[in-house]
Formats: sequence, structure tokens, C-alpha cells
Amino acid sequence: MLGKSALLVGASGLVGGELLTYLLNGKEYSKVLIFVRKTLGIKHPKLEERLIKFEDLAGYKDYFEVNDVFCCLGTTIKKARSQEAFKKVDLEYPLEIARLAKEMKAEKFLVISSMGANPKSSVFYSRIKGLLEQELKDISIKSLHIFRPSLLLGARREFRFSESASAFITKGISFIFVGSLKKYKPINAKTVAAGMYKAAQSETVGIHTYLSNEIAELS
Ligand SMILES: NC(=O)c1ccc[n+]([C@@H]2O[C@H](COP(=O)([O-])OP(=O)(O)OC[C@H]3O[C@@H](n4cnc5c(N)ncnc54)[C@H](OP(=O)(O)O)[C@@H]3O)[C@@H](O)[C@H]2O)c1
Repeated sequence: MLGKSALLVGASGLVGGELLTYLLNGKEYSKVLIFVRKTLGIKHPKLEERLIKFEDLAGYKDYFEVNDVFCCLGTTIKKARSQEAFKKVDLEYPLEIARLAKEMKAEKFLVISSMGANPKSSVFYSRIKGLLEQELKDISIKSLHIFRPSLLLGARREFRFSESASAFITKGISFIFVGSLKKYKPINAKTVAAGMYKAAQSETVGIHTYLSNEIAELS
């Protein structure tokens, strides 16, 4: 039986890697295309890996002819080394991917933003995520799913001091994340991936935004 096709961008990342596993193992998809900078070295009958130049996303337009497009891109200021470079990965590339998805008539676009996203925030990271959400909404994709996780938990290949410290501290006070504070509770990358996968199977159209606790409930 022919299943759906998916394009996943950011498959080498913490959430993207978990999502790739769901997509390859899930019966809903018969083809999973990924855009990467370096090969992941994964062999799977459903998987089609494309090594691409992200500066020229439009040059890969034909690959956007899929049912669902998932965007798990992201970087840190430390890795990107400048706000401009950060903006490229966390704002410009996801917007370009969304525009191409719309142009090629993909049915769904699912993207990771962040808790606290706000286009008017004085915090650069939150402002960029807020601008991303705002501009995505203007693209008018048929079915747009925005995920706003809190601190991500999971085994990263590189060490990130602030994330590790926050994870350590919040673990000790996990009992406080109840009621209105539920949305601040750290969340496993795997749970976010499961939530994205689940949302992609719903037939609802329009804009859907999920706070961290809602992602956990969805998964
Ligand atoms: N960390 C947290 O606690 C947290 C909390 C809330 C929201 N978020 C957001 O959640 C999303 C996913 O986070 P994550 O931790 O799973 O991300 P991650 O592990 O850092 O992975 C990021 C992905 O983006 C790709 N990428 C980075 N720079 C790139 C560039 N210049 N060109 C092309 N691709 C590039 C990476 O590819 P390479 O392997 O090629 O570098 C990787 O596939 C991000 O948008 C992040 O802002 C994170």
C-alpha cells in the first residue's frame, strides 16, 4: 500500500534524529526524504538522503513535492558565532522551507519554535522564534503546526553547559511544574518528535500551536 511522503530538515539534530526514527518506522510513510549537510550513514528502504547547500534551498524545489514537511533546524549563538548566522538557521531557512512547501502544495508544515517565542521580546532568541511564528502565519500554509517546547532533554553529541545546568536544576524541582507551570517543564526530545509525528497524522487545517505540556499530551 502506498503511504505518504515526508521531507525532514534537521534530521541530524536531537529532535530531528528522533523524528527520523518515527518516520522510518511508522506505517503512515512510504518515503522519507532528508536534507543534510553531511551524510548520516543510515541505510533504510524508505530513506532518501540529499546532501544540500542550505544557501540555495530554492534549487531543490522539486523535492518539496511531498505530503508533509518537518523542520527541526536550529542552532545556538555559540555555534553560529553571530546573530546574523543564527538568524539564517532559525529564521531564514525555515521560512524559505515553508514557502517552498506551500509552492509545491505540501499538505502540512510542522516546525519547532520555542517556549517564550515573541516577536517583541528583548531576548534575541525568543524574538527570532517569535518572528518565525509570525512570518510563518503570513505564508498561509494549509495546515501549519508550531511546536513550542521548553528545555529539551536528551543525549546530545556535544556538551551544552547552560542546557545541562538547567536540566540538572529543574530535575531537582520537577514537583513545581504543575497547574499553570506545566508548560515550563523540561521535555524529552523524543516526546517532541512523537508529538510532531502525531500532529502530522491529523486531518485538521489551519494554524496549530502547541505548548510544551500540550506536546506531551499529544504524544
Ligand atoms: N535546546 C533546547 O532546550 C530547546 C528548547 C526549545 C526549543 N528548541 C528549538 O528546538 C529546535 C530543535 O532543537 P535541537 O536541539 O533538536 O537542535 P540540534 O540538535 O542543535 O539540531 C539542529 C539541526 O539544525 C541543523 N543546522 C544547524 N546549523 C545549520 C546550518 N548552518 N545549516 C544547515 N543546517 C544546520 C543541524 O545540522 P548539522 O548536524 O549539519 O549541524 C541539525 O540537524 C531548534 O529550533 C531549537 O531552537 C531547543
